[in-house]
Amino acid sequence: MDKFIIEGGRQLAGEVEIQSAKNAVLPLLAASILTDERVIIHKCPRIMDVLNMIQILNELGCRTDFDGETLIIDSADAANHEIPSALAKELRSSVFMLGSVIARFGRARIAYPGGCDIGLRPVDLHLKGLKSLNVNIAEEGGYINCNCGKLIGADILLDCPSVGATENIILAAVKGEGRTLIRNAAKEPEICDLQSFLNKMGAKISGAGTSTVSIEGVRRLHGVEYTPIPDRIEAGTFLIAVAMCGGEAEICRAAADNIAALIHKLREISCKITVKNDKIYIKNGGTRRSLRMIETMPYPGFPTDLQAPVTALACISEGSTVIVENLFETRYKHVPELIRMGADITVRGRAAFVRGVPRLHGADVVAGDLRGGAALTLAAISAEGMSSVTDLSHIDRGYSGFEYKLASLGAKIRRIRV
Ligand code: UD1
Repeated sequence: MDKFIIEGGRQLAGEVEIQSAKNAVLPLLAASILTDERVIIHKCPRIMDVLNMIQILNELGCRTDFDGETLIIDSADAANHEIPSALAKELRSSVFMLGSVIARFGRARIAYPGGCDIGLRPVDLHLKGLKSLNVNIAEEGGYINCNCGKLIGADILLDCPSVGATENIILAAVKGEGRTLIRNAAKEPEICDLQSFLNKMGAKISGAGTSTVSIEGVRRLHGVEYTPIPDRIEAGTFLIAVAMCGGEAEICRAAADNIAALIHKLREISCKITVKNDKIYIKNGGTRRSLRMIETMPYPGFPTDLQAPVTALACISEGSTVIVENLFETRYKHVPELIRMGADITVRGRAAFVRGVPRLHGADVVAGDLRGGAALTLAAISAEGMSSVTDLSHIDRGYSGFEYKLASLGAKIRRIRV
């Protein structure tokens, strides 16, 4: 098991380039089996979630070639419709394969998905949506079995704007007969990216980024060459790192519009932020006023995936901050670890009450999930003294070369194998 050894307390300076968005790339990989022609994805991040998804594609019979940052997927010979439980449990996004596997083979069998343990994370909306498209679904022995004669377009209203359910329904409806409408759809930028990718393959989708997505089914999709959008959560993580450590940095290949909620908050606490094309420049002289109140919301609200890093920031900001986590039930696993570093936090249900302290001190902490692990790493590089962050498998799921990027900004961080 790997761990980071960190000597905290250094200001940051320099520039980092942002990887393509994990949450954009994963559904694109699921979409790649909708065609039997070649799909080429440029700037594909080498993160564990992507590597696991590639393994799933291989399991289905695709040929994949991941050279440098370019991933080529050839699913001409794909013939298998079953995703084995060992792989599905590694990765929640394996559930996105349902829609596209059904669209390709008329059936699918998948074990209940895994992913970060941050709450219940049901898939009822995915299944309800697929049923509306004429898919028969039977659940038995931890597996979801789907069968479908013909996918038929439908008018679907989601009970809540689930990102994954919106994407899964798009992935099935794209090859259905007639038109599908998804109302109360999620509006995340990654859904717009999926629409652009599929339309480039010949699909007829409109409305992504609004609460109604319209999909006109087509018979055939063709190959595509594509570069996904930059990762807004990675960009946000580095912005928060600079806010916590002080200093200045240029975050390159970033989409500032997609993290407006965070940028707004960082300006409020006295970070100087300027945006030019795809670069975000941030400077913080060491003052951090109170964040006051942060409530996670579906896009364009404050993203739940930045809740843990921003909680770490609140720990060393002036005054008190109230954080409310509205999306996932148990997304405060980083809190006891932050407390070990000297933070003053009380959690009651979905709310965390943070009273700022001047600085955190180093400690040996354990990453319990992906974004919580990133938050602890930021806390450690800003803290006084030595820290270790254990169980990097979580962080490796979503950040490529996290420690190298932080080190290039001047943080003292290295990985050791224990
Ligand atoms: C995606 C992101 C994840 C992010 C989350 C919210 C990917 C790979 N993951 O996860 O990083 O934290 O969006 O922005 O893109 N829900 C149901 N039933 C369902 C599906 C969801 O009740 O069938 C609920 C969930 O429990 C949760 C809420 O809807 O409370 C939002 O979940 P959802 O948007 O589906 O998140 P994911 O797609 O799993």
